[in-house]
Formats: sequence, C-alpha cells, structure tokens
Amino acid sequence: MYQTLVTSLEDQIFTITINRPDKLNALNRMVMDELNDAVDEVYRNEKIKSAIITGSGAKAFVAGADISEFMGEGVEGMALAKKGQDIFSKIEQAPKAIIAAVNGFALGGGCELAMSCHFRIAAENARFGQPEVNLGLIPGYGGTQRLPLLIGRGRALELIMTANVIDAQTALQYGLVNHVVPADQLITKCRSVLEVINSKAPLAIASAISAVNTLYTTGKNGYDAEAVAFGECFTTEDMKEGVAAFLEKRKPLFLGK
Ligand code: COA
Repeated sequence: MYQTLVTSLEDQIFTITINRPDKLNALNRMVMDELNDAVDEVYRNEKIKSAIITGSGAKAFVAGADISEFMGEGVEGMALAKKGQDIFSKIEQAPKAIIAAVNGFALGGGCELAMSCHFRIAAENARFGQPEVNLGLIPGYGGTQRLPLLIGRGRALELIMTANVIDAQTALQYGLVNHVVPADQLITKCRSVLEVINSKAPLAIASAISAVNTLYTTGKNGYDAEAVAFGECFTTEDMKEGVAAFLEKRKPLFLGK
C-alpha cells in the first residue's frame, strides 16, 4: 500500500495518481520512493500492460519537487538530482507504455516527470514550465536534456531561462503534448489510446520504446539498435501470428511470445 500514491488496475491499465493535492502533488522524498516502487510494479506485474501517471485534484499534475525539503539537513543537490534522474529514466525505459495525463500545473519536476513518460496528453487547464531559475536552480530531473529534445533548443532555453509558464495549446503547438482535451475527458482519452497500444504485440511495443530511446538515452547508434530489435521481433510467435492474421484477413491474437 502506498501513502502518497493511489494506484488502480483496470483492463490491464495501471493508473498511478500522485496524491498530495493540498501540496499540489509536489514530489517529496516519499512520493519519489513510492513512485519508484510503482514503476517497478509496472515492470514486474504481468497483469499490467500499460500505465497512466496523473495527479490528484483538479489543479495540478505535479507542481514540482517539494521545495520545503530543499533546506533540510544533509540534503545534497547532486544526490537529489541523480535520484530523480534514475527514477525518471526507469519510466522512460519501461518496456510498457507509460503516458502522462497532465491535469493542471506541470512545473519543474512535474514537467520533468511528464517528459519522462512516453508521451503526454493534457487537459485544457494544463500548464507547463521549468521555473527553477526563480529559486536560483536549474531543472535537475532530466529537464535540461528532455525539454530541448521535445521542443527544440531555443524554445527550451527560453522556457528554462525565463521561467515562463505555457498553456496546453502552446504545449500542443510546441509538440510537448500529443493531445489536448477537456479536463473531464482526460482519463478516458488516455485509456482509449492505451487500449489501442494494448491490443498490439507486447514484445513489439517494448522493442519500439527501446529502439526509439536508443539515441536519446544512450547516445548510441539507433539504426543498429533498430536492426537488432527488428531481428528479435522477427523471430517471435507474435510476429508469425500478426503476419498470418493479416494474410488470413482476421484479427491477430498476440500472446507476448
Ligand atoms: N513544493 C512544495 N510545496 C508546494 C509546491 C512545491 N513545488 N508547489 C505548491 N506547493 C504548496 C504551497 O506551498 C501551498 O501549501 P500551503 O497551502 O501549505 O501553503 C500549496 O501547495 C498550494 O499552493 P499555492 O502556492 O498556495 O497555490 P497557488 O494556486 O497560489 O499557486 C503555483 C500555484 C503552482 C503557481 C505555486 O504553488 C508555485 O509556484 N509552486 C512552485 C512551483 C515551482 O517552483 N516548482 C519547481 C520546484 S523546483
């Protein structure tokens, strides 16, 4: 059982809701530890095919790292950043789709959490920004790396250096989010996209994530990684099933083998 998260599993979709609405779901130490455990659960639990990360309440996805913990005794900046980076990398490299349902403020570590997900769907009231310079800081949970990859270097540097906050439509225009929907349709939209993904061959989904991630996360040659992953998919039972189903004009039944 989690103290700062609410989780549920329905139709093979695992929903992780960060549940500190009175603190706008700020990421304190316990949230980060529990998020790490919940992501481990996504990796481990065979009943989970994909996941949604969202925030509790109508106002915020996550309003950042918990600023009140920054001045605590023994808090060391680099260790804090490394820990956050590791957890968010685990999300990014998950072998199952993990998407962010951004239901309000996604600031600082909240924007970084959303960016570590495979893609983002936003409610109309979503707001994105990296306001760390207001605190004499910079993004520390991967934001300086993922934001330029997603929206381009110039836009990323402008957001990081001005601490400006952008609305959902601007985020859509920048390519930071894939869809913007009314707040009351956010989870339904996320679930409908994941239901499509869940109907595909699980090993192909895992390979697609890993191949797309290669250049971004390892700096290695993505074409080589793609060829290896394609070769692995080519030998699976699901590939035989998918091709046979196409030729026989029927729906495939994928077993993840
Ligand atoms: N860390 C810790 N607590 C936070 C927080 C954060 N990142 N963001 C919000 N909270 C807390 C507030 O302190 C407040 O707690 P309180 O009621 O005990 O005083 C509560 O959440 C509600 O926030 P509040 O600021 O009153 O809401 P608002 O609607 O006036 O403003 C924001 C909303 C998001 C603009 C504002 O909370 C904010 O700027 N948060 C910090 C964002 C940030 O800098 N994130 C990067 C951190 S590195």
